[in-house]
Amino acid sequence: AQQFENILVETRGRVGLVTLNRPQALNALNKATMEELVAAVTAMDSDPEVGAVVITGSEKAFAAGADIKEMAAKGYLEMYAEDWFRGWENLTRLRIPIIAAVSGFALGGGCELAMMCDIIIAGDNAKFGQPEINLGVIPGMGGSQRLTRAVGKAKAMDMVLTGRFIDAEEAERSGLVSRVVPAAVVIDEALKAAELIAAKSKPAAMLAKEAVNAAFEMGLAQGVVFERRVFHSLFASEDQKEGMAAFTEKRPPEFKGR
Ligand code: CAA
Repeated sequence: AQQFENILVETRGRVGLVTLNRPQALNALNKATMEELVAAVTAMDSDPEVGAVVITGSEKAFAAGADIKEMAAKGYLEMYAEDWFRGWENLTRLRIPIIAAVSGFALGGGCELAMMCDIIIAGDNAKFGQPEINLGVIPGMGGSQRLTRAVGKAKAMDMVLTGRFIDAEEAERSGLVSRVVPAAVVIDEALKAAELIAAKSKPAAMLAKEAVNAAFEMGLAQGVVFERRVFHSLFASEDQKEGMAAFTEKRPPEFKGR
C-alpha cells in the first residue's frame, strides 16, 4: 500500500475510508494533503473491489480550510502560475460515489471539499462556513458555485459575505447536507451508507452519480435525454439481468460490477 503523511487510508470490505490526519492544523488542506487525497481516492475509483469511498476528518474538524500559512506569503503570479487549487478538479472527475462524514469544522476549503463529495453526512456538532472574506479573499475551491447550487442565493450570499458559520441543523434545513446524526456515530452512519452503495452494481452507481451531476451542467430537456440514454445503456450489463431476475425470484441480487 502507498504511504501517506497527511491522511490515513484503509479499506473495509468494499468501502474505502480516507481520514484527514493533520490534527495540529485542524486538517487544513495543504497541497500535499490534496495530492495524497486525490491519489488515494483515484486508486479506489479504478479498483473494482472498492464500490464507495468515505472521506472524514477528526471529531473537532473535518477540515478548517485551505492551509492559510502555506498561502499567506504568495503573490498573484505565483498563485496563477501554479493554478492554486486546480488539483481538486481531479477529485471531482472521479466516478466512484464519495461520502463526506463531517464532524466539527468544515470551513472554507473544508466545506468546499465536503461539497465536492456526493453525499454529506454531518454530525450534530458540525459547523459549515465560507469565512474567506475574513481573510480578505473569497472561496477558491468552488464554494461560491457549489454552495449557491446547494443552498440557493439567499443562504450562499449570507455565508460568503458575512463569513458566518451555520450549524448542522441549519445546514440540513438549507439542503447542504444529506443527513444529520449524533456526532458519535457519524463515521458509522457514513460507512453504513457507503456499504449499501458499494453492494450495488458499480457501473450503475457511477452512472447514477454522473446523471445527477449532469443536472448541474445541462438544461432539463437535454438532461432527461442524457438520463434515458444512460438508462438504456445499462441494459448491456449482466448486473441489470441479475437485478431484475433477483426481483422476480424474490431474492437479494448479487451484483458483479459488469
Ligand atoms: N490553515 C492553517 N492552519 C490552520 C487553519 C488553516 N485553515 N485552521 C486552523 N489552523 C491551525 C491554527 O493556526 C492552530 O495552529 P497553531 O496551534 O500552530 O497556532 C491550530 O490549527 C488550531 O487552531 P486554533 O487554535 O485556531 O483552534 P480554535 O479551536 O481556537 O479555532 C477555528 C478553530 C475557528 C476553526 C480556527 O482555527 C479558524 O478560524 N481557522 C481558520 C478557518 C478559515 O479561515 N478557513 C478558511 C481558510 S482559506 C480557504 O479555505 C480558501 C479556499 O476557499 C480554499
